[in-house]
Formats: sequence, structure tokens, C-alpha cells
Amino acid sequence: MNIVLGVSGGIAAYKAVMIARRLVEEGHDVHVVPTDDALQFVGKPTWEAISRQPVTTSVHENVAEVRHVALGQEADLVIVAPATANTLARMAAGIADNLLGTTLLATQAPILVAPAMHTQMWQHPATQANAAVLLSRGVEFIGPDDGRLTGTDSGPGRMSEPDQIVARALEMLRRRGVEDDLRGVRLVVSAGGTREPIDPVRFIGNRSSGRQGVAVAAAAAGRGADVVLLAANIEESILADVRARENVQIVTVTSANELKVVADREAGTADVVVMAAAVSDYRVAEVRATKMRKEDVGGEHLMLELIENPDILAGLARDRRPGQVIVGFAAETADDQQSLIELGRQKLARKGVDLLAVNAVGWSEGFETAENTLYILAAGGELISTVAGTKAETAEGLLDSIVAKLSTAG
Ligand SMILES: Cc1cc2nc3c(=O)[nH]c(=O)nc-3n(C[C@H](O)[C@H](O)[C@H](O)COP(=O)(O)O)c2cc1C
Repeated sequence: MNIVLGVSGGIAAYKAVMIARRLVEEGHDVHVVPTDDALQFVGKPTWEAISRQPVTTSVHENVAEVRHVALGQEADLVIVAPATANTLARMAAGIADNLLGTTLLATQAPILVAPAMHTQMWQHPATQANAAVLLSRGVEFIGPDDGRLTGTDSGPGRMSEPDQIVARALEMLRRRGVEDDLRGVRLVVSAGGTREPIDPVRFIGNRSSGRQGVAVAAAAAGRGADVVLLAANIEESILADVRARENVQIVTVTSANELKVVADREAGTADVVVMAAAVSDYRVAEVRATKMRKEDVGGEHLMLELIENPDILAGLARDRRPGQVIVGFAAETADDQQSLIELGRQKLARKGVDLLAVNAVGWSEGFETAENTLYILAAGGELISTVAGTKAETAEGLLDSIVAKLSTAG
């Protein structure tokens, strides 16, 4: 596909070289459009060599090709990385006195911007207002991340890592290929891990980061669904992927019981429910009103009585409306793929869901990682799809199975 990579004048321009390179490696035609200031940081020969395309900054070069509009018109995706405060302001105002400005106005392709600047510049009301204008026009943002900036500073403003930007760009391109196949669908997805309080300061939790469920929310929103994300104890940096999307509503919950209340409520009007959150099977029988002190409980052993939590997924499957698709997740520790899938089949039979996504978890896999493999089982236990890759990619694979199920469930 045709990708325009706009590069503006920030230190992070050197990282954009990696973005161009990865996209070329993926087989895309990459047209780099730097601003004049960007060329102060990384020169034209680098961009031309990496992209294998001619690079110009001015509207007065290659006039015969009407390049100032042609690049934008022919693009399937436009990325601006890094996006400086200045370039964001110019985009918001529609200024077109360079090739990047005209390209951005001429294009009807989706636009992804990766801001990069010092924290004060990013948080300035002018920059925030410009970002809000661009968001309201459907421009997608990735980052900025919180981290080390140029010099000794650190804080929000660091450009997202090239790999993340490439992953999002590829997801956006894929979405263009699938053409909003979830438009009009109301999809509820839970993500993260529940916490069962012991006392006001302690809880029983699990290692689920929420990445896979958030990736499902982001991917579904990208394919046009109206999404409700039930977020159980998820870090803000992971939620950032969906915060800005206007078709994602985020409801935060803490414990399994809280999740049950909102899941039952939201499922009432949902077409699809995906339960990706890791839900505690048990909770502490008696939550203490004050902090449990060693001096008070004493001894070498401490017994906590646990009682069973309601089975949210089985309840949703039991009460589902005709045509509604209920999708569960099974995170299992198993020695090999066959036993993993077998454990998944047993869970499927217990829960009565329409689809079950089984993934392996362990000390070093599944939880905080960016990559995943999902084995997708249909209601009868048959393995209908295996999807591997980034959590964004596996989310897309799962949605493909959901779309197929929706078309037969009606
Ligand atoms: C060393 C250096 C680093 C800079 N880094 C950034 C940056 O990360 N983000 C930013 O918004 N501006 C940064 N600037 C300021 C921009 O280069 C300046 O606003 C410029 O006009 C941007 O032009 P452009 O948006 O057309 O590329 C930097 C300037 C210098 C000299």
C-alpha cells in the first residue's frame, strides 16, 4: 500500500528512519515528506536511501506530477512522526505552505500522528487544543509516551517507539482492508485483572495487564463497533490506546463482583460480549474494615477464608439473547499445545460460550508480553483459527472469527 510518512523537526526524527525502514520491509511504498526543519535533523539522502523514493519538501519541485496533491490523494495512510508542536498547530489550522501541509489537506486516507516534544510544550493549552481539534476530525494519535526526553528531562512527550507506531499503522491499513465490518455492532469487552480486597491496603490479584482485552477494544473500535471496555485495574499507559477513541466508552471496575454488575448491565444491550479479563474465582470471606496488623493476627500461619465468586461468563452465556455472541478467554498453563487446547475445550463445555480464545500463560508468557497466540475454539470444541503475533494482530484475528459467527448467529 501507499504510505506517506511526514516527518517534522524534532530530535525523534532519527527514530522515524526505523519506521520508514520497517514499512518498506513490510512491502509498502513509503513516501517520506519531511519539513525543512526535519532535514536539519536527518538529511534527504537518508530518507531517499531508506524509502527508495525521491524526497522533496517544497510544493515547487516535481510540479509536472502535481505532487503537492498527488501524494495525499494516492495515500492509503498518512503518518506524521515525529509530530512537533508546530506541525500539530499547522495541521489544526490547515496551513499548506509546504509539501506536508498540502498532502495532509489533499488526503482522504486515515492519519496517524505521533507527537514528540518536551512535556511543557505537550501540556501547553495551545497544543492540547490543537490535538483536540485533530482528534475531533478523526486523526488518530499514538502517544506521546511518558519517558526520557532530550537532555536530562523526563515526562510525557516522548515519541512512541517505532515498533509501536508501525504496529498501529499496520493495524490501520488492515482496517482499511476490512472496511468497518463491525459498524453498528455494540461490543462489550472486559480486560485486566480483578482485585479482591483483604483489607483497605491489600488485595488478592493476578498478573493480567489488560493488553489483550484493550487490543480487542481498539481493534473493534477501528472496525466501526461501538465499544464498552470494562477495565479492571489497567495501567493508564495501556488504556491510552483507546482513551482518545470516541466510539470506546471505558467503565472501570475493581473486584469480580463489581465486574459482574457492570457486565450483566452492559450485556443487556450488547451484540457481542468478550470476557478477556482475568477474574478471581474466589474472594475473601470477611474484608477487614481496618488494616490487618501482624501484631493482631500473630503466629507463623495466617488463614484467610475464601468464598467462591459468581461465574460471570457462564451467567452471561446462560442469559444471552438470541443472536448475541458470547466470547470467553481461557488462560491456561499446559505442557504442550494439545493439552492447552484440551483444557480450553473443558472450559468451553463448562461455560457454554459461542467462542473461546485459549492462550498459554506461565511465568514468562501471556501476561505482560506484547505478543500472544490465540487458539480459537467454536461452541462444539473445534479449533477454527490459530492467530499469533502482537496482541493487536491476535485481536484482529479474534474479531474475524466473531464477524463470521455474527453472520451466522442472527
Ligand atoms: C535540537 C532541537 C530539538 C527540537 N525538538 C523538538 C521536538 O522534539 N518537538 C517539537 O515540537 N519541537 C522541537 N524543536 C523545535 C522545532 O524544530 C521548531 O518548532 C520547528 O519550527 C518545527 O518545524 P516543523 O514542525 O515544520 O518541522 C526542536 C528544535 C531544536 C533546535
